Amino acid sequence: MAIALRGISLYDTLRPMGLSPAQVLQQLSAVNDPELRRDLVSLGMIRDLRVDGGDVRFTVRLTTPACPLRNQIERDCRAALGTLPGVRRVEIAFDADVSRDDRLAALGIRNLIVVASGKGGVGKTTCAVNLAVALAQRGARVGLLDADIYGPNVPLMLGLQDERPGVRQGRMQPLERYRLRVMSMGFLLRSDQPVIWRGPMLHKALEQLIMDTAWGELDYLFVDLPPGTGDVSLSLAQIAPISGAVIVTTPQDVALADVQKGIAAFRQMNVPVLGVIENMSYFVCDCCGKRHDLFSHGGGRRMAERLGVACLGEVPLHPVVREGGDAGAPVVAAQPDNPAAAAFVAIAGALAAAISVLNFNRRTPSFIPLADIPTT
Ligand SMILES: Nc1ncnc2c1ncn2[C@@H]1O[C@H](COP(=O)(O)OP(=O)(O)OP(=O)(O)O)[C@@H](O)[C@H]1O
Ligand SMILES: [Mg+2]
Repeated sequence: MAIALRGISLYDTLRPMGLSPAQVLQQLSAVNDPELRRDLVSLGMIRDLRVDGGDVRFTVRLTTPACPLRNQIERDCRAALGTLPGVRRVEIAFDADVSRDDRLAALGIRNLIVVASGKGGVGKTTCAVNLAVALAQRGARVGLLDADIYGPNVPLMLGLQDERPGVRQGRMQPLERYRLRVMSMGFLLRSDQPVIWRGPMLHKALEQLIMDTAWGELDYLFVDLPPGTGDVSLSLAQIAPISGAVIVTTPQDVALADVQKGIAAFRQMNVPVLGVIENMSYFVCDCCGKRHDLFSHGGGRRMAERLGVACLGEVPLHPVVREGGDAGAPVVAAQPDNPAAAAFVAIAGALAAAISVLNFNRRTPSFIPLADIPTT
């Protein structure tokens, strides 16, 4: 028998014999989404429930296809139903409807995430590219905008340096690679031209890239920023609301001091900081497999704790990351078994989960915010 979530009939509740959908929902209402800390039934996450004799089938609708806790949710559902008399077989499917930042509704973009750092060369672009690819691999609709006018490296890292976007009906068509939709400041610049842009020109170019690109519906739009927390993020915030910022750092102290400044700048702009990534955190030797902490690894985590933001994860220093970047083949796609790729995938999951919580908190003011996700 199929029922709509809220359409439980009196018949279902009162039926004297056999297993009813109402009983199943009752059991499932004891299972919480571990991140949102509410039960799956009242969150509307249980869909297409069918009870046929002792067979129970339903779909759990996640708020991101990259949900890191999918297995835990499945285990908890099975455990809850395991104690219900009459249940013979449980079949659970998963799908996702990515939660949205409602302020972006007019753009058809569900979430806009900037990847920033206080200091140059810490791996922003590498992180932006690999995180975007990781989410796209898991089925999300992902765009990547390279907003670095001084060194637009996204085309190179995706092997798109010789391509240019087409224009259709007055709108730029993003290029597609690894299931990502990609636009870059680099596409608007001639490689032999030095960049001497004034603020208003930069603003106009950024506006064009966001508003005049035929992105289509996007679950996540990543924006790779130039180093420092300057004009570009301010300009961007005037063009479209920024859902959240990811700060990339390396373990050295000097970089960490810059993180502090970066976080303060975003907070001043009322942009929630989704978390910090410690890149080039440690080195795993190819020969002996041993892990070496080249710098004082873990500084990113300590700093995040001190500043009250989440540490989204640590990415090892690995030659394949650089080689993949230079060759236009991000490690997440080219070498998924590499420890660096695994780190990016885990971080992408943590990031997607943080965004879901943030969106949930925005809509539910009474919800107690997670300590590690400031909801400015
Ligand atoms: N985890 C890593 N392991 C090995 N090499 C890395 C790693 N992360 C980044 N790199 C390399 O470090 C260099 C700088 O990275 P990237 O260009 O991503 O930094 P960035 O912060 O975007 O720099 P910029 O400030 O110039 O925009 C690149 O050559 C990249 O391939
Ligand atoms: Mg860069």
